[in-house]
Amino acid sequence: MYEMGRGQTMTTLFTDIQQFTTWRNEIPKHDTVGFVPTMGALHGGHISLMQRARSECDHVVVSIYVNALQFNSLNDFSKYPRTESVDFELCAQVGVDSVLVPLQSDMFISDSPNLLSPSKEAEAFEGTDRPGHFSGVVTVVDRLFAVVQPTAAYFGLKDYQQVAVIRNMATTLHPRIDIRPCDTMRETDGLAMSSRNRFLTETARASAGLIPLALSTAIAHWRNGCRDASEVTAIARSIFDRDASIELQYLSIVKDGTMDQVEAVSERDSIIAAVVIDGIRLIDNMQFSNA
Ligand code: PAJ
Repeated sequence: MYEMGRGQTMTTLFTDIQQFTTWRNEIPKHDTVGFVPTMGALHGGHISLMQRARSECDHVVVSIYVNALQFNSLNDFSKYPRTESVDFELCAQVGVDSVLVPLQSDMFISDSPNLLSPSKEAEAFEGTDRPGHFSGVVTVVDRLFAVVQPTAAYFGLKDYQQVAVIRNMATTLHPRIDIRPCDTMRETDGLAMSSRNRFLTETARASAGLIPLALSTAIAHWRNGCRDASEVTAIARSIFDRDASIELQYLSIVKDGTMDQVEAVSERDSIIAAVVIDGIRLIDNMQFSNA
């Protein structure tokens, strides 16, 4: 256990789930607890979730756990950036009450625990391109929910499909936890913040700027009156086609909050995309809105 004071707030780091549970049990029953699960390498996107939890809840818990179960290759897992001391400092600056960094052996008794099966929302898109990924995500989030017992849990809409899958898991297994989706934080050129952006070369980083451009151009086309999903996606595709280094994995329009593809686009539907640039896989999405 390690503590860092910032004004009125004391941020405590727990690596031991038992010690965390003792802390959690001391919180009065009617207080609200906001929870932000992360895999660390914290950036502005994570910080916005933490700030929202801080403004809405009496107590804020952040977890940092690089979840081996959701990676498709051991190489990706071992390459995942680990910046724990900077992460803890950032949590303290936001006024987070406790940071849980559990050990794998404390999280799961076995190295290959029983995996939960995610809902049908997990099947297409990321589910196709990253087999087993969502099973690993829901298994770890279920375990973290059981340990943290939050009132509300905050997830970024940057991972649109993850929100849909977790919402479903929570409805079934943790109906008392309020799942709160949060807006995507972006760099100045519109690229969604991501821990993977640091792996982009200068050239790849420049190409990545076409992702938000393609999605926002599709939305502008819809605002101009086009409702046909294939025409709207074709506009986005033509922007990706400008750059041969962008390999488009999927580009689709889905119904408000679901993974169901639409033919006619309505307000609150989302355009979702995954691309690979110079070996780095990036995902993004934007919602159709007149605002
Ligand atoms: P991680 O990629 O660390 O993301 C933690 C949370 O931050 C997720 O809810 C994610 O959607 C959100 N986030 C990431 N980039 C964001 C951005 N640019 N704007 C707003 N929010 C953003 O997602 C995971 O970890 C894991 O799958 C996890 C849920 C922790 C389970 O292991």
